[in-house]
Amino acid sequence: MTSRPVIDDLSSFWMPFTANRQFKAAPRLLESAKGMYYRTTDGREVLDGSAGLWCVNAGHAREEIVAAIAQQAATLDFAPTFQMGHPLAFEAAQKIAEIMPAGLDRVFFTNSGSESVDTALKIALAYHRARGEGQRTKLIGRERGYHGVGFGGISVGGIAPNRKAFSGQLLPAVDHLPHTHDLEHNAFSKGQPAWGAHLAEDLERIVALHDASTIAAVIVEPVAGSTGVLIPPQGYLQRLREICTKHGILLIFDEVITGFGRLGKATASEYFGVTPDIITMAKAINNAAVPMGGVAASRTVHDTIVNSGAQGAIELFHGYTYSAHPLAAAAAIATQDLYRRDGLFERADALAPKFEAAAHALRGEKHVKDVRNLGLVAGVELDSRDGAPGARAYEVFVKCFEAGVLIRFTGDILAFSPPLIVTEEEIARLFGTVRDVLATVQ
Ligand SMILES: Cc1ncc(COP(=O)(O)O)c(C=O)c1O
Repeated sequence: MTSRPVIDDLSSFWMPFTANRQFKAAPRLLESAKGMYYRTTDGREVLDGSAGLWCVNAGHAREEIVAAIAQQAATLDFAPTFQMGHPLAFEAAQKIAEIMPAGLDRVFFTNSGSESVDTALKIALAYHRARGEGQRTKLIGRERGYHGVGFGGISVGGIAPNRKAFSGQLLPAVDHLPHTHDLEHNAFSKGQPAWGAHLAEDLERIVALHDASTIAAVIVEPVAGSTGVLIPPQGYLQRLREICTKHGILLIFDEVITGFGRLGKATASEYFGVTPDIITMAKAINNAAVPMGGVAASRTVHDTIVNSGAQGAIELFHGYTYSAHPLAAAAAIATQDLYRRDGLFERADALAPKFEAAAHALRGEKHVKDVRNLGLVAGVELDSRDGAPGARAYEVFVKCFEAGVLIRFTGDILAFSPPLIVTEEEIARLFGTVRDVLATVQ
């Protein structure tokens, strides 16, 4: 492999979700990756405790996926999917449909989680319009929800810094459920907290306020990831489902993080036994090897829209130049085959108790005020420094990186979501490094 000269001027790249001046003063640059490890530009190995950004579920640079992309690039680099098609688009959709909950087997392709969310919201509106209830335009999200960065996603999302600079232009017909985070009742819960199912009842309040006839959809992450790993209370998602069904409201699960094995099942919907009407996905759909996202819609939703117009008329005026891009589709097929061949979802399921034990061993360490987990995802919440929220977790993150372990942080919450190929030794090293670092942090 030829190595490029190390770049010394970092000013041109305006980095996303990054403190640009702070980063560029002390950059952390990754050069290559294989399996569970990144390699930095200064030649250090770093254990990937976050699957990149919750997305490289099969581990890095898997040969089968690399080969599929390379071959596809040389065979059919691009093909339009507007009034045209290519076989891999259909094959990829079929493979994904096979592992979605029964009935959610109509797949629309996008290029990211944000696009998947906006697509799902638009499908929800189009569905109600197609069935003659076009007045159902309200979208219900949840406090602390993260649904990407499109105007739709930040409108239904509930993370204040992501909204405030744009607040004058958010979608107008939106309301929010309360979040489910409550350390008074749920601190150090293993798996789903026992307390909090009643918070779903707030949907009835919102319905009473606006009237069901105005509400198109509710969108939630089954496990909220980006806000700092919030596990749904027992019975909560079931209750949301019941209330949505009762009022004819579509339920959308944003599975951009939870999809493809993070909880030891293909989807969180399967894990919790709750079937929404629409699922959004991205990230691990193709091991993040080429940008790709998708939306799985129920037959009812799909057929209502697709059968609504005249023959020959385009049914949904929506799509992206790169919807089902051949390279992304090839990577998705290879990835799904790999998940199945290596039994990676089952592996995650089997490792989950060990992962839980390792995470909860941090209870009692300095600054730790909560540990929570499900499947191969965990959050460790730290006490914040007076007047400097986020500073302590940032320091832990940097020190872990210097010690050879990559984790995520949001505010003062550390997040863990390793590739599903992680070993027990690597789990021990991941949390052991955090424990050592916590001891050094003020
Ligand atoms: C639940 C959820 N939805 C949407 C997104 C946005 O995905 P993307 O960054 O690919 O646009 C994310 C990203 O982390 C996510 O976690």
